[in-house]
Amino acid sequence: MTANKKVHIKTFGCQMNVYDSERIAETLAPHGYCETERSEDADLIVLNTCHIREKAAEKVYSDLGRIRTIKEARRAAGQDTIVAVAGCVAQAEGAEITRREASVDLVVGPQSYHHIGDLIARSQRTGERLVETEFPSATKFAALPGRPSTKAAAAAFLTVQEGCDKFCSFCVVPYTRGAEYSRPVADIEAEARKLAGNGVRELTLLGQNVNAYHGVGTDGRDWSLARLISRLSQIDGLERLRYTTSHPRDMSPDLIAAHRDEPKLMPFLHLPVQSGADRILAAMNRKHTCQEYVTLVARIRAARPDIALSTDIIVGYPGETDEEFERTLTVLEDVGFAQAYSFKYSPRPGTPAADKPQIPEAIKEERLRRVQAVVARHQAAFNESCVGRRMPVLFEKPGRRTGQLIGRSPYLQSVHAQVAESSIGSVLNVEILACGPNSLAGTLTVAA
Ligand code: SAH
Ligand code: SF4
Ligand code: F3S
Repeated sequence: MTANKKVHIKTFGCQMNVYDSERIAETLAPHGYCETERSEDADLIVLNTCHIREKAAEKVYSDLGRIRTIKEARRAAGQDTIVAVAGCVAQAEGAEITRREASVDLVVGPQSYHHIGDLIARSQRTGERLVETEFPSATKFAALPGRPSTKAAAAAFLTVQEGCDKFCSFCVVPYTRGAEYSRPVADIEAEARKLAGNGVRELTLLGQNVNAYHGVGTDGRDWSLARLISRLSQIDGLERLRYTTSHPRDMSPDLIAAHRDEPKLMPFLHLPVQSGADRILAAMNRKHTCQEYVTLVARIRAARPDIALSTDIIVGYPGETDEEFERTLTVLEDVGFAQAYSFKYSPRPGTPAADKPQIPEAIKEERLRRVQAVVARHQAAFNESCVGRRMPVLFEKPGRRTGQLIGRSPYLQSVHAQVAESSIGSVLNVEILACGPNSLAGTLTVAA
């Protein structure tokens, strides 16, 4: 094994890519690679990419242009640089990437990165440019190495489910991540125990469709996400659990009940609605109406009255009329989300909606602005409603000012407070004194 080679990994896109990038780093460690922040110093550069919207995919090519310059400069100095493109653009575009960018040596999809070390070795040996975008489904998780035993951050992600069978008409995920796959409970539990042993206090269970989880349980039967959460709640040291992203159609009664019954399950739920207009929801293939969503929210709030809800909105889906757009504003007003992500519809090659007549850009811009104004108002109102309350905060890292730490509230807000650095990784009670648009500030409450 040759030690002291350096890898620079740049991550785009969702939390699952963050998780995957960590696994890529671990997979490369036995091949002699340690991580560097500086791409100029790297023997290997990995871009872990996102294909969800056109802008996200374009960023990859502008980055590859910059990397080509680095590669040329390093070559002039007698150093080789291997360039690998991983993630969802790799899966979607495959060999097109090597055709467009001469600097790319390797293209590796989200289900194939467990081989990345061997692929790099082969490419170096033979000089071939390799494209690996097969879907060997379950084999990836089985092949991934265990986590390193170093002390980890206070909060971590854990992929429990991957892929999607829903085929929303705007979305590339079913094509880039493949069919739904749920990891077995025993594997997830082992990984969670290891993380807890390394100092992780909060786990976010990840899946493109996480609440469709149905992995094989310790009794050989399929377990639901609620049952998995109940199992993971028993792990000592793990104090908080979250999960994302959920589809409204898979919000089963036992999962709703878990928000009432599992004290470790945090009162926050990201539940994309996408649109408030039934005709658009049907065209998107979401398979629920706006009223069904609103009713679902009422049931969730009945189980856990203080739950903070978050959502995703797409404006300017093909054919969206002014009246239909107004309905999206109405559902935002009716539900009152604590936070939300909103996007202009972006046509994605190979998805059904991409071939439809498109809404002009200026209209999309205007609609996005209006959505964001409503969301900002509700987010501010929610943050203000927290001022004066006491809540447990998991402190994660130093803040910008000396003596300050940043943590998370149960509702996923950032919280700043003057706290000793030794409290990183602890959940402490904080009285919230002030708020801004995106964060809270408070002070430790004195134990009675
Ligand atoms: N698995 C998640 C979503 C993954 S993508 C789910 O099912 O909700 C995250 C968000 O990106 C989506 O909820 C959607 O709002 C947005 N998105 C996906 N495809 C898009 C597209 N073509 N244009 C604009 N936004 C899109
Ligand atoms: Fe994409 Fe989510 Fe729809 Fe699946 S459920 S196709 S990931 S938006
Ligand atoms: Fe992007 Fe792939 Fe995640 S397209 S959002 S990186 S699943």
